Amino acid sequence: MKHFSLLFIFLVILLATSYSDAFTRNSFPKDFLFGAATSAYQWEGAVAEDGRTPSVWDTFSNSYDTGNGDVTSDGYHKYKEDVKLMATMGLESFRFSISWSRLIPNGRGLINPKGLLFYNNLIKDLKSHGIEPHVTLYHYDLPQSLEDEYGGWINRKIIEDFTAYADVCFREFGEDVKLWTTINEATIFAIGSYDQGTAPPGHCSPNKFVNCSTGNSSTEPYIAGHNILLAHASASKLYKLKYKSKQKGSIGLSIFAFGLSPYTNSKDDEIATQRAKTFLYGWMLKPLVFGDYPDEMKKTVGSRLPVFSEEESEQVKGSSDFIGIIHYTTFYVTNHQPSASLFPSMGEGFFKDMGVYIIPTGNSSFLVWEATPWGLEGILEYIKQSYNNPPVYILENGMPMVRDSTLQDTQRIEYIQAYIDAVLNAMKNGSDTRGYFVWSMVDVYEILSGYTTSFGMYHVNFSDPGRKRTPKLSASWYTGFLNGTIDVASQDTIQLWSNFSVSSSL
Ligand SMILES: *[C@@H]1O[C@H](CO)[C@@H](O)[C@H](O)[C@H]1NC(C)=O
Ligand SMILES: *[C@@H]1O[C@H](CO)[C@@H](O)[C@H](O)[C@H]1NC(C)=O
Ligand SMILES: *[C@@H]1O[C@H](CO)[C@@H](O)[C@H](O)[C@H]1NC(C)=O
Ligand SMILES: *[C@@H]1O[C@H](CO)[C@@H](O)[C@H](O)[C@H]1NC(C)=O
Ligand SMILES: *[C@@H]1O[C@H](CO)[C@@H](O)[C@H](O)[C@H]1NC(C)=O
Ligand SMILES: *[C@@H]1O[C@H](CO)[C@@H](O)[C@H](O)[C@H]1NC(C)=O
Ligand SMILES: *[C@@H]1O[C@H](CO)[C@@H](O)[C@H](O)[C@H]1NC(C)=O
Repeated sequence: MKHFSLLFIFLVILLATSYSDAFTRNSFPKDFLFGAATSAYQWEGAVAEDGRTPSVWDTFSNSYDTGNGDVTSDGYHKYKEDVKLMATMGLESFRFSISWSRLIPNGRGLINPKGLLFYNNLIKDLKSHGIEPHVTLYHYDLPQSLEDEYGGWINRKIIEDFTAYADVCFREFGEDVKLWTTINEATIFAIGSYDQGTAPPGHCSPNKFVNCSTGNSSTEPYIAGHNILLAHASASKLYKLKYKSKQKGSIGLSIFAFGLSPYTNSKDDEIATQRAKTFLYGWMLKPLVFGDYPDEMKKTVGSRLPVFSEEESEQVKGSSDFIGIIHYTTFYVTNHQPSASLFPSMGEGFFKDMGVYIIPTGNSSFLVWEATPWGLEGILEYIKQSYNNPPVYILENGMPMVRDSTLQDTQRIEYIQAYIDAVLNAMKNGSDTRGYFVWSMVDVYEILSGYTTSFGMYHVNFSDPGRKRTPKLSASWYTGFLNGTIDVASQDTIQLWSNFSVSSSL
């Protein structure tokens, strides 16, 4: 009898433990937003239709053999079908971006009525299905005309043009759009585009991953980063002066954030990790929250790091109502160079300045990423503690898989549910996170890998002129999660959902 009751207590504890881990949609606040994302160049296609002109991304793609976004998932023509899929899924928010050169083909001046109509139609359609639009103004696609005219983001002229473009968007769409991100993953945008040369417009110094025709990796990332912050702050100021009281929306900047963790428990690696956080998060977060760059960056980068005037500092400080986080995976950080490490060896630039080596976790590579949900939890905790706990949206998280490999993407489901759990854990400990978006809603053209990998919850047949959409298992899983019928961890979810029928395999 005594043994029985001990066993009973043991069982109760076991059950209680497993139940405390379980979660559903309803474990999150009602106004928390679960969504999915795409971006204009990656989803729309129709690059030469109805008055759109080329962006730097068109130019960049067409100079590599990774394919291009000429047609991609054809969202421009298939948006109604995609909104229906979102509605069937119970998606609460859709994050997409506006193509600047579709709306304002010369970069400034005349508005293209057909571009305006497209975004109005898309936004109205989302609203009529109860789906909250989350709009990114800039996602790697500067009108090529502005790049040609003055060099785009490395020239301060971008601030005025970006603000004028944002003004058009706020005025035309702001009645229906309450969530605006000015610039997508600003940190990795500056690094990828102006240090590594792997993102448009593809600038870098010699001896990087790619051969760039122009650039300077030790100066341009910081100049671009500075102009990004000033352009964001200028658009944000305009919104607050002219629109916010009527439209009542919020506006934020998004940064790309790897999870970062010391490679060993040595003091050196711990310090290296702090330094990596300062460079990769603090570079943009410190100005946004406190009005200036981190001291350590000022010291290391010296005169190559632009300086905020007092007025600029005031304008940048507090210019983000929320911080957008784009997060996929975690790296170990070390001060020394073991054989598997990356980056400072790649010559002058951001990583050399940062002075740490990073090492992929587990089997992560560009094609396969290991789920390291503790990495995201760490970022949210760090932002809470170091930056006054601002509102946060996880604007992208998702898992690449070899395209066309399977519709039974159980690994992706495991990945997504582990990360959603991490967000919940961070919130339980006080993080003010307000939304989570899966990248991507449907398969799209990808920035590094073209069409070789995909992240979509819907498969797109890119050989089919009709670009047929087929749900993957992850689409069914997210549907069930959003309608509250999936209770993660209280049952063998993957098992259950493996039995849920998606159309026959590929
Ligand atoms: C980049 O600029 C720095 C500072 O002006 C200079 O020392 C360096 O040589 C330049 N690098 C290239 C590749 O032009
Ligand atoms: C860059 O160009 C040089 C000289 O043409 C060539 O040897 C090298 O392989 C190229 N590197 C890359 C990454 O394409
Ligand atoms: C990592 O790779 C090793 C060797 O290829 C393999 O045995 C292991 O299952 C992989 N782990 C994961 C989580 O994929
Ligand atoms: C939870 O928050 C407290 C207070 O900010 C912090 O000290 C603690 O380390 C956090 N716990 C975790 C697991 O992050
Ligand atoms: C994709 O579409 C092409 C052309 O319609 C078709 O031949 C092919 O079977 C489709 N592939 C899949 C995996 O459905
Ligand atoms: C919830 O979603 C699943 C699909 O994943 C569906 O089978 C089920 O009928 C939905 N339940 C409700 C109550 O909407
Ligand atoms: C899933 O299907 C398998 C066989 O098709 C069956 O053995 C198993 O019990 C099912 N699992 C659930 C959770 O329904």
